[in-house]
Parts: sequence; C-alpha cells; structure tokens
Amino acid sequence: MCGIIGYAGNRDIKKLLVESLKRLEYRGYDSVGIGIISDKLNVFKEVGDVSNFERKLPKLKGNIGIGHTRWATHGEVSKLNAHPQISCNNKIAVVHNGIVENFKELKEKLKGHKFESQTDTEVIAHLIEENYKGSLLEAVCLAIKKIKGSYSIVVISEDEPDKIVGARNESPLIIGLGDGENFLASDIPAFLKYTKRVVYLNDEEICLLKNDSIKIYDLNGNEKLKEETIINWDIKDAEKSGFPHYMLKEIHDQQDTIQRALIGRIFEIEREIKFEEIIESLLTNRYNNIHIIACGTSYYSGFVGKYLIENLTGIPVYVDLASEYRFYGIRDNSSLVIAISQSGETSDTLAALKEAKKSGCNTLVITNVIGSSATRIADGFILTQSGPEIGVAATKTFTSQIIVLFLLALKISFNLKNIGTQQLYEFILQLKELPRKARAALDQSATIREISKDFFKERSFLFIGRGINYPLALEGALKLKEISYIQAEGFAAGELKHGPFALLTKNFPVVVIVTKDISYDKILANIGEAKARGAKIIAIADQNDTDIEKYADIVIRYPSVSNMLACIPISIILQLLAYHIADLRNCSIDKPRNLAKSVTVE
Ligand code: M6R
Repeated sequence: MCGIIGYAGNRDIKKLLVESLKRLEYRGYDSVGIGIISDKLNVFKEVGDVSNFERKLPKLKGNIGIGHTRWATHGEVSKLNAHPQISCNNKIAVVHNGIVENFKELKEKLKGHKFESQTDTEVIAHLIEENYKGSLLEAVCLAIKKIKGSYSIVVISEDEPDKIVGARNESPLIIGLGDGENFLASDIPAFLKYTKRVVYLNDEEICLLKNDSIKIYDLNGNEKLKEETIINWDIKDAEKSGFPHYMLKEIHDQQDTIQRALIGRIFEIEREIKFEEIIESLLTNRYNNIHIIACGTSYYSGFVGKYLIENLTGIPVYVDLASEYRFYGIRDNSSLVIAISQSGETSDTLAALKEAKKSGCNTLVITNVIGSSATRIADGFILTQSGPEIGVAATKTFTSQIIVLFLLALKISFNLKNIGTQQLYEFILQLKELPRKARAALDQSATIREISKDFFKERSFLFIGRGINYPLALEGALKLKEISYIQAEGFAAGELKHGPFALLTKNFPVVVIVTKDISYDKILANIGEAKARGAKIIAIADQNDTDIEKYADIVIRYPSVSNMLACIPISIILQLLAYHIADLRNCSIDKPRNLAKSVTVE
C-alpha cells in the first residue's frame, strides 16, 4: 500500500525524503512524488521506482517536505495521479493513504474547482483550499470532517512554510520525535534511522508539526497530551545485512527472532509461562471456544494455532478469514477472539476485530507492531518481537506468531490443569531448543538451492500435508506463488483423490510434508498414489525418518523436534524452497507484482 513521509527540520531535505521513500518501498507502489516548501511549493512526481525518480530530481532546498509512494486505487498509474495532489491555487499539497468514499459527491459540491487527476485524494487538497481562512490546521480539520472513509493524510501549504499537518482515520500515521526535527510517516522504518521515539496518532486525531514542536488535537480543536513510545527496533533490522534480498535476510533472522518471541515469556527455573497481566487475566476465563481471525499468512499461522490449542486444551478453535468473519462470522460472547496481524493494520482484520468487540467478546491481538491500530482496539495484545519485516512475503513473523500461539496454548492448558508443571517444563525445554533447530533448518539452504535448480521452470506445484502440516502446505503454496508467480496450491493430503489428482501428469512436482505422527502411514500412502500418477515427490521429512527415501524422489530433511514444534523448521524449509525457486527465476522477491506489505484498504 501507499507510503507516507513528512519532515520538518534542517537536514538535506531531498536526500531525507528520497531515503525515507526507499525504506517504504517494501509496502508496494507504482509511482512516487515529493513536495517541498522553499520560497514556494515545489512538487515532483514520476511513475516507476524511487531510484529512477531520484535521478530526475533537481537540487532542492527547504525545511518542510512530504513524500509518497502510491499504490493505485482510484485512477490509473500516471504522473498526474501520483501524490502529492495539489489545490487549484498550487499552494497546498496533500499525500494520502486510504480511500475517500464520498469523493464524487464532494467533487460535485466543489463548484469552480478544476480537477486534474482521477484520484480521490485531489478532492482533499481542494477541500482544504476551500476551507482555508489563514490556518492550515483549521482548514484540514474542517475538510476531514466532510470526508467519509479511511485516510491518513499529510498536508503542507506555501502560506505556512514552517508547518506540516497530519490526520488519520483507520490508516496508520506515526510521529517520529527528533531533536530540532520531527517526522510523520505511515510506517516506522521511514524514520527509524533518525529516531526511535514515536507517538501514534489515533483515529480522528490531527497533528501540527514544526521542527521544534508537535501538537495533537481532536476534531473539535481540543489539544490532547499523548505519551511517546520508544521503539526497540534497530535500523540494522531494516537493512539487508549483506543478503541479496530482505526476504532471505529475514528467513535467516529466524534463529534470533524465535528466541525473541520466547524472551520474557518462558521461565525454566520457575517452570512457568508468563504474559503481561492483562493477557494473564484474559486467559483465566473459561471459554467455550476460541475464534482466530486473520488474513493471508497470518491466517495460516492461526490455522496452525488451531491444531496446537485444540490438542493442548481441548477447546474448539474456529479459524476465520477476517474478510469473511467481519460479515458472516458467528459472534459468541463466551468466546475469546484472537486476531493475528503482522502489521496490526490490515483493514479486514481491524474490521473483524471491531465486530468481535462490539459483540462483547474478549479480544486479543498477536502483532509485530507496537502501537499499531489492532493493539489499540483489542483488550490485550502480544508482540511477536520480530523486528521490522520488510519483504512483502511474511517469513519470520509467521514462525513467531506460531510460537506465541503455542505459548498461549500451553498457558491455557496449564490453567485448565490439562497439563501439570512437569509437562509444562518439558515443553519449555523443547522451546528453548528451537533456535538451534531453526539454525539446522537454515543450514539446508544450499541443498534446497540445488534441488530448486531442477524445478524452477515448472508451471505448477502442489503442496500437501495432514494435521498441523495441512496449514503449512497452504502457507508453502502461498509463499511460492506470491514470489515466483508459479501456480501453487495446498491441500490436505486426504483430499488429493477428491479432485486435485486430475492435475497430476508426468513429473508434476508435489511437495509433501511428512512427520512421524498418527497419520504417517496414510501420508506414505498418499505419496504412493501421487507417484502412481506420475508425480515427482519432494518430501520434507524428519532427519531420522529412514523409510521416506523409499517413497519420495527427493527428500529435504528437517531437524528432529517434537511433532507439535516441527512446524517451525518445516516452515523455514518451505520459505527457503520458495525463495530459491523465485530467485532462480529472477523474480522481484521483496516486492512481488501487485502485492503490498500492509493491506490497509479493503
Ligand atoms: O499484516 P498482516 O499479517 O495482517 O497481513 C496479512 C496478509 O496480507 C499477509 O500475511 C500476506 O498474506 C503476506 N504478505 C504473505 O506473505
């Protein structure tokens, strides 16, 4: 989705805006633009990437500037439709994320205004101009009262050359506090190099930034005092550290991020799992059922969580796509609703979460971003603590979400007395082993690259698994399709004969996830059936499974772990497989076509 940066300060403004926009590239975009106030408002825009845009920029000076990467929603990809959008008098410039639902209606009312673009955003610039009576802050406030929909906007005006005004409703906007400088951005990595001190804007809040001050107001003009938060992310986490892609770097981060997901939550000596008080109190209730709501990869981690929680607690778990749940989900106020979202900003997940809250359910969010919208809606939140994830394909946050779900399952199970202290202790020991197991899975990277050389030209793949490996098969297929553009589908292995068999032809690649659990014999039978129809079997199997060679054509080994935790090294292997195949195909791995990191529109 679109990225926003605003800056008030004395640094080289062109360099700062361009660098920040580069750090927002991962969100996905098709055009780019900046607006800077020097003696007058200067706006530059281009279709294409930030580096190309940078080459075309002249020397620029100024102390106030805004920038934007656009992901087209209203109007084609063009220079005219790129942001900033400007007012008729060329004095006011606006960058915007989100959608103005009533823009056509507003356009009709703005008599005498000439519109140049097809965007909904241009209406905002004209509305502000229409309401401008000497105060940009007031004009923005009056304008946004007329807007229906979701937005985060950042506005500058030639008439007030030391100010930036920002406002949000259902789309993130974060203030970065510096020394003699301040920032406004859609996402923390945009300014992380300069400051870790942030203030999150809430819906229907408006802020006024200068280089030496920030003020926040509600829409009635009342000033609000807000606390700042210190982000514990490191700028190195938002860089590639020598890896050719963020995705590969983030896959390799997992030895560390798994550790981080456990820190402060497992206590070996005390034989305890602890969460913050608010979470602990949510978990002491007896729930009839648990609903998990999420989208994409987070949905699949929730699906893995279903197997973990049901297995350990006996409580039925329903996993719903947030986009479905928000309209059709059963809201039972005796259930615990867990929303999972790496970004904490996914529009459908937020809408589903709000619905759950409205119905009186206890709500909990698992997210990677402190202060994100989801954390402010739910009754409690648990951070995955993975550091920023830049690659569009979710990797390290997926495994950390699973770990948090596993910890929740253990805690609930212990509270219900399904497991005792000794069992809990044994699980804690297994969890402590996980970073090492992740390392062993990462060590398979070179082998997986060699295997990928035989498959990267394929047009389709199937991924299959049973039990907890079924959602992993779905995630493995999603990972491959999103970054390599190969058609890939995941199935519960038992379903093959109910349809997907029709796809199998000679050497059709089928990735099979094999664990030595109760359905081991059945999965071997599924392999046999697929092979009988010509398929080429790539098995992902336990390092100690000595039988699998007899069945599969190729075997990728994962380090032995208890069955419930094997999902972690298996996920890493699936991520590496997708990565190497996509890399051999020369795909745009970190920014796959048509995709965005954070889906903040519906
Ligand atoms: O930020 P979220 O976890 O809510 O994002 C949900 C999906 O958009 C996301 O998981 C998407 O499917 C991944 N980028 C896929 O790798």
